[in-house]
Amino acid sequence: MNDSSPQADKTSDKNISRADVKDFYSEAAVTAQDNLCCPTEYDLSDLSHIPKEVTEISYGCGSPVGRAGLREGEVMVDLGSGGGIDCFIAAKHVGETGQVFGIDMTDEMLDIARKNASQVVINLGYNNIEFKKGFLEDIPIEDTSVDLVTSNCVINLSTNKNAVFKEIHRILKHNGRFLIADIISEIEVPEEMRINKELWGECISGALTLKEFLDHASNNKFNGLLIKKDYLWKEVANIKFYSYTIEGFKYETNRNLPDSRSVFATYAGPFDSVIFQGTTFPISIPIKIDKFTAELLSSHSYKGQFIITDPEIEKPTEINTESSCCD
Ligand SMILES: C[S@@+](CC[C@H](N)C(=O)[O-])C[C@H]1O[C@@H](n2cnc3c(N)ncnc32)[C@H](O)[C@@H]1O
Repeated sequence: MNDSSPQADKTSDKNISRADVKDFYSEAAVTAQDNLCCPTEYDLSDLSHIPKEVTEISYGCGSPVGRAGLREGEVMVDLGSGGGIDCFIAAKHVGETGQVFGIDMTDEMLDIARKNASQVVINLGYNNIEFKKGFLEDIPIEDTSVDLVTSNCVINLSTNKNAVFKEIHRILKHNGRFLIADIISEIEVPEEMRINKELWGECISGALTLKEFLDHASNNKFNGLLIKKDYLWKEVANIKFYSYTIEGFKYETNRNLPDSRSVFATYAGPFDSVIFQGTTFPISIPIKIDKFTAELLSSHSYKGQFIITDPEIEKPTEINTESSCCD
């Protein structure tokens, strides 16, 4: 594996290499770094099967797996899996028939994750977890094979973020999704900060603005982007850095559908109308959609916002309660 970072996103990113980031996290694997631990909202029942050594080196800034609504049998890939916390949580959610892969480039992190995986497997009573050595920019996973890609405070560390989004799109199945918790900067991080290796390792100076993040996602053909702003993490040089969780779908509108039968979606409120992927859904009016849009609007993230009706079955699908936003 080549640790240099070709095709850096910005001129200043050429000063940072994957080897710098790897050195930073080799150290952080052996000695827990308090200044790297953002507040995370793990559900305690999700952690009971996970050894303390893993939770002590948890360096995420959100809890993407807890929010993902994983189903039994799904395949998940966690990018920059570190000590493995999100993989171990997911392993419980997807059950014996599911599969979880953790990808990381740092040997020390992989060693801890693999060592603790043995205990997690005993605690769960089945083995569905594999940690692979690899880069975010060149993910060692087959094309179109994954239901969910997660990442917890890692994309900011890459110097080639466009390659990361391209790779996420490649490995996802059609209608697959990503859920990424990351640090987002309120303005573009200036050059003098971007060349600071320490600040880069601390998940500060490689952070994207929200616009940059969303541009990378849409340039790489992701749709249905959902944005959750969680909390202010740090202020450095008068710039605010926030923790966000962002979801996106690999949803292809122009596919040749073997089953082009239409179904209907009725927006349930509370607003007068919402616009989703260019279509307006006024409250309480059934709008004709294709079955792929129906699958998307029935997914965990949009659950409760639309009533999906299939005329051939004549029964609305389940509805309610969470609220979020549509684009
Ligand atoms: C901030 S830590 C987060 C670890 C884990 N997600 C968690 O929540 O505890 C970043 C992790 O990403 C890995 N990493 C950073 N850049 C990477 C890259 N380009 N390719 C593969 N792994 C990378 C590091 O080795 C480290 O384990």
